[in-house]
Amino acid sequence: MSFNYSEKIPNNVDLANDRKLQRALEHWQPHFLDWWREQGPNDFASDEVYLRTAVGVDAQGWASYGHVKMPDYRWGIFLADRVADRTIGFGDHFGEPAWQQIPGELRSQFRRIIVTQGDTEPASVEQQHLLGLTCPSLYDLRNLFQVNVEEGRHLWAMVYLLHAYFGRDGREEAEALLGRHSGDPDNPRILGTFNEPISDWLSFFMFTYFTDRDGKFQLKSLAESGFDPLARTCRFMLTEEAHHMFVGETGIGRIVKRTLEVMKELATDDPAAIRAHGAMDLQTIQRYLNFWFTSSLDLFGSEVSSNSASSFANGIKGRPDESQYEDHVCTDATYDLETPDGIESVNLRNAMNEVMRSSYVKDCEIGIKRWNMQIKRTGYEIPLRLPSSRCRRSIGSWSNMPVDPDGKIIDRTAYERQLVEWLPTESDQAFVHSLMQRVTEPGKMAGWIAPPDRGINKLPVDYEYVRPH
Ligand SMILES: [Fe+2]
Ligand SMILES: [Fe+2]
Repeated sequence: MSFNYSEKIPNNVDLANDRKLQRALEHWQPHFLDWWREQGPNDFASDEVYLRTAVGVDAQGWASYGHVKMPDYRWGIFLADRVADRTIGFGDHFGEPAWQQIPGELRSQFRRIIVTQGDTEPASVEQQHLLGLTCPSLYDLRNLFQVNVEEGRHLWAMVYLLHAYFGRDGREEAEALLGRHSGDPDNPRILGTFNEPISDWLSFFMFTYFTDRDGKFQLKSLAESGFDPLARTCRFMLTEEAHHMFVGETGIGRIVKRTLEVMKELATDDPAAIRAHGAMDLQTIQRYLNFWFTSSLDLFGSEVSSNSASSFANGIKGRPDESQYEDHVCTDATYDLETPDGIESVNLRNAMNEVMRSSYVKDCEIGIKRWNMQIKRTGYEIPLRLPSSRCRRSIGSWSNMPVDPDGKIIDRTAYERQLVEWLPTESDQAFVHSLMQRVTEPGKMAGWIAPPDRGINKLPVDYEYVRPH
């Protein structure tokens, strides 16, 4: 089914036949646009950007590409096709028909989960809203805006669910999603990482690699939900999300590539020399990686969680790719957790956050391996690495423990002294910021990043992806 773009709110949920819902969403729409104008990439409102827009749910040809001014982008409500006779794939309701309405007793749990997911979408647009001013190329500028408009659409997806299934409470939550702001001391976004500033492109690529990947795992677990409209919404969001992580992985890969070129040219691995040549030393890249990876780990919640147990038991949230497991009920299974006091065997249902976090860590390793292959090929033994998932945690059993990047508990004074060296220092940040100079000539790249291997949608790298007004 292709999407109906003749309506005020493009959709594939037959909005025209639900006048009440249509009116409620049309009432929210101008508030969303006001938010976009104020908090989005507003310095570029009159530029024409080569963007993809979802036009259908077919895996082949689901998007169309063309130049569009961002305020005219058509944000819509798109759900993946309904699977006939779908049943709930996990928990106490395993095998029962999936719900088309939310069971009354699960309403507040579902609402909390949808609001928390929804809150991250506009948050990231707010975090990224000044990055366009220092873009390293038009290609990157376009990718930033593609990520931004799609996060905007993900907000629409969650707001649709709130309006369609939660009545007045849902409408109030939808308004509140535009009222909180990233980093606002009085009314911040719900989750910590989404209040961290993203003021340079190294952070942006780390965010899209590590934090959008948390999004991927959250969406995958909600795509398993017993509440079918939520599952279908998240399944479609995942098609868009893949590009965000591509931006992160290739972005970091291109920075590493450029650094290696400079190291080869100068025949040195001295960070000061590399910096003097206008590239980022691998040690600085490692410190940014440490920051964003450890911050994103907390997004999965506590290792032991009765909330996650009840979400699983009740059919609200499954494990990412639930079909890979044999036991979908998990009443008797246990999970061995490493805690600061040693191995603790807990009921698997209570350890679902940790199950998810460890799949996430494995997925994060893939890019690291690829970047390290590049480094090795150049002949250097300076691999990038993920710190231990116990390091610098603020949530769960490892919270505030003095753990080093290897995962070992160390002396607290030593920890506090070294932590400063594991994370971007003020002078790292000042240096990275000094490199952030805007490059807008088609095909040209800033000196700290290599060009991409190919352009977008089979176009050349030097295509005019953003046409300035
Ligand atoms: Fe998103
Ligand atoms: Fe994303």
